[in-house]
Amino acid sequence: MEFPRGLSGEIMPNGKTHLRELAIRGGEPAFAAPLHVGRPNIGDRHQLLARINQMLDRRWLTNAGPFVQEFEEKICSYVGVKHCIAMCNATIALEIAIRALGLKDEVIVPSFTFIATAHALQWQEITPVFCDIDPNTHCLDVRALEKMITPRTSGIIGVHVWGRACNLDALESMARNNGLKLLFDAAHAFGCSHQGKMIGNFGEAEVYSFHATKFLNSFEGGAVVTNDDQLAAKIRLMTNFGFAGYDNVVYIGTNGKMSEASAAMGLTGLESIDSFISVNHRNYKQYAKLLSHLPGFKMVEYDSANRCNYQYVVFEVTTESPLSRDELIEVLRKENVLARKYFYPGCHRMEPYRSKFPGAGELLPNTERLCHDVLVLPTGTAVGVDEISSVAAIICQAIAQADLVKQSLGRHA
Ligand SMILES: Cc1ncc(COP(=O)(O)O)c(C=O)c1O
Repeated sequence: MEFPRGLSGEIMPNGKTHLRELAIRGGEPAFAAPLHVGRPNIGDRHQLLARINQMLDRRWLTNAGPFVQEFEEKICSYVGVKHCIAMCNATIALEIAIRALGLKDEVIVPSFTFIATAHALQWQEITPVFCDIDPNTHCLDVRALEKMITPRTSGIIGVHVWGRACNLDALESMARNNGLKLLFDAAHAFGCSHQGKMIGNFGEAEVYSFHATKFLNSFEGGAVVTNDDQLAAKIRLMTNFGFAGYDNVVYIGTNGKMSEASAAMGLTGLESIDSFISVNHRNYKQYAKLLSHLPGFKMVEYDSANRCNYQYVVFEVTTESPLSRDELIEVLRKENVLARKYFYPGCHRMEPYRSKFPGAGELLPNTERLCHDVLVLPTGTAVGVDEISSVAAIICQAIAQADLVKQSLGRHA
């Protein structure tokens, strides 16, 4: 555990506040070691090591081993979904789900997402058609989406950004009315619900990521969850080369299997999920208390009527803030706080999409603005309230000294 070298506004013995110099102005960095966004939630390491020992004793390391089976069962009962097919990561899980659903030609997706959502389509020569997002939810804007449906559209992939559900009712009826398949990228949304139903139960299928930075991790990992028996059977075949039994391949497939070591980690994390949520929630409230009063600092809020994993602490830094999002990121990086932009610069500004659709940004004003404004701050079980107080103090001090900070940034440019 690294401790900050000093709070930005230390109280001196004489009761006065001593403002230490920000690192951007030549002071010592507040943190001796980098404070990352998305440091893994580990759970009980003794349980993990016991499972790894069991796995080694069994010499069953992969191929639907007992830990993978148990992990799939536990995900099903936690989410209340019929089928879970655990996989090596969410990108492969998306690719397999897309193929199993028979998506083709064009699929509508947000550009405000991690690049894997778009690549999983393009990898299979399916064109991702980028749709703008609703500025309030950061998820697909259904009114914009309606105008993008053409005879070539075969489906929609919604992304539950920050674990907040897409506009599910509207997407489900739009998909139904237009004969489109509906898939969700739920990489951020394990443990989250919508109107009393866990995410994982919507559309034809949903895909979780259990990457190390995610709320629940299995080192690397992912899963497709679905209530459709036939689809589940097809996806399971595709995940294991199409093998329907020894020496019997009945379908084209790939290797998407989750390993036993990953499932051991996933199972261990699942046992600590309530404490992950409570630490994340505590951290979220601490940031809200210390930062949401700042001008131009709009915090992404979670609806307490739903279950939330609070894995992301996100601010939109608008033009009312004396320092821009990018200026704040520079200030924080100099302090060893590795705050992040998300999903900058937007999929449509990354290759191959930037070259294929050079004018896409004109149809994506909300996406472009958010890519410019979003600031994601460190949280998770590796981050304590004192560290959060230090991060917040740096931001408050930088805002209070915005002119000096801008001068220093000019010198560093
Ligand atoms: C929205 C989204 N989709 C897909 C992925 C891909 O997940 P993975 O790294 O498990 O392949 C990620 C995260 O990495 C993500 O944030």
